[in-house]
Amino acid sequence: MLNVLNKSIDESRQGEAYAPNTSSQNPVAKKFFIESYGCSMNFSDSEIIASILHTEGFGATKHEEEADLIFLNTCSIREKAELTVRKRLTEFKKLKRKNPSLLVGILGCMAERLKNKLLDEEKLVDLVVGPDAYRTLPNLIEEAEGGTKAVNVLLSRDETYAGISPVRLNSNGVSAFVSITRGCNNMCSFCVVPFTRGRERSRDVHSILDECRDLFENGYREVTLLGQNVDSYYFVDSATNHVTDFALLLKQVAEINPLLRVRFSTSHPKDITDSVLYTMRDYANICKYIHLPVQSGSSRLLQLMNRTYTREWYLSKIKRIKEIMPDCAISSDIIAGFCTEEEQDHLETLDVMKQSEYEFSYMFIYSERPGTLAAKRYEDNVDMDTKKRRLSEIVSMQNNLSYESNKKDVGKVFEVLIEGDSKRSNLQWMGRNSQNKVMIFDKTQDGKLKKGDYVNVVVNEFTQATLFCTIVN
Ligand code: SAH
Ligand code: SF4
Ligand code: F3S
Repeated sequence: MLNVLNKSIDESRQGEAYAPNTSSQNPVAKKFFIESYGCSMNFSDSEIIASILHTEGFGATKHEEEADLIFLNTCSIREKAELTVRKRLTEFKKLKRKNPSLLVGILGCMAERLKNKLLDEEKLVDLVVGPDAYRTLPNLIEEAEGGTKAVNVLLSRDETYAGISPVRLNSNGVSAFVSITRGCNNMCSFCVVPFTRGRERSRDVHSILDECRDLFENGYREVTLLGQNVDSYYFVDSATNHVTDFALLLKQVAEINPLLRVRFSTSHPKDITDSVLYTMRDYANICKYIHLPVQSGSSRLLQLMNRTYTREWYLSKIKRIKEIMPDCAISSDIIAGFCTEEEQDHLETLDVMKQSEYEFSYMFIYSERPGTLAAKRYEDNVDMDTKKRRLSEIVSMQNNLSYESNKKDVGKVFEVLIEGDSKRSNLQWMGRNSQNKVMIFDKTQDGKLKKGDYVNVVVNEFTQATLFCTIVN
């Protein structure tokens, strides 16, 4: 969920289809098309899936009309995310009519929850494969080709896909996601993730470091370490009993090369430690940016949400981050209209936002998810109009905070990693500073800079979402 500024939904990358036509060497290879929904973990999983299929001789295509296999890597986090996928499925009906041997597969977080419904009621789906079962995809495809509906939604306690080298999709060749944990052991009462992705497990540190080194050698200059709760990363080497926690992992990734930027997401406020903060401070290439979702500013609601911290505790964590790294940017996730939320609770959320001076936030209306603790225990009793009004107040607050934060950057010099051309013009570069802010600036006449290079820029102008800069020497 990185890289989306001030949007009330995090589904901006939804439906992003993809990249390399790996089938070009073998024109008879079966072609697959994959579309990813939801969070960065799902995008990262699609790269693992592509790798597994690639090894089996399948080639990727960007065009659904020419695919033999269509996969949707789905999200269940809010009802809207599921509705989008179901609508997309109906669009494949036409393609199936044209090409009766076309197979359609549902992967990811909707698989477990909706397997029966999708297979029986909608009859459109031939395969349903959960997030821990991707290694079985080749067999399942064979089954489905033989006419049997193929299902594997088993969750695992130890699958981390270590040893699978992801095929980078939609890549800018500069930044890549690297998965470090899977699943989640927290039981936030509103959240479906522990049910769709199972128990938390940490990936072997050696395989993480190998992947990051490999990325660097292939020209990548930024890795984002991904997990639902990265700060609880904990790996014990079975040969040496050596323990790697998140602070040590960060340090080791940062030491691969000073030119490799390191980011991470997401941090649960209860788990981020001083030792992580000191490691961030001590390495210039660990980006000064923390995604630290608060969810609500009311201690009463935080307790109902089972977040295990209070408003005061959260604010003291923010204070600690700023003490150790005064230039650290902080972003948040916020839910409007959770069960029993009163006006006073909502005002407390606005107040925590203000005190935390978030640079960005991802803001959502509460959406009850079947099977979660909140769905079982509490009534979803805030009406939709109130939810929408509160969300819009939260969004306005964030817009103001982002504007004020960007205003303070005018006249400052930042090091930027160039990611590519700006959206508007190929005469301008787009990059980010350590704080994850988007910076736009004119290219030099001599054409010496290229994407993946670092350059210093000074900020001249700004909007709430972008800093406009010029290169300094
Ligand atoms: N592991 C991350 C977040 C994963 S889900 C964390 O703990 O911060 C991303 C965000 O979706 C959550 O932070 C939350 O703000 C939002 N979210 C999760 N369940 C939701 C629901 N039922 N309704 C609305 N928003 C939800
Ligand atoms: Fe969901 Fe909470 Fe786990 Fe995040 S930490 S994935 S919100 S249960
Ligand atoms: Fe969605 Fe699953 Fe991610 S529910 S937010 S795709 S972990």
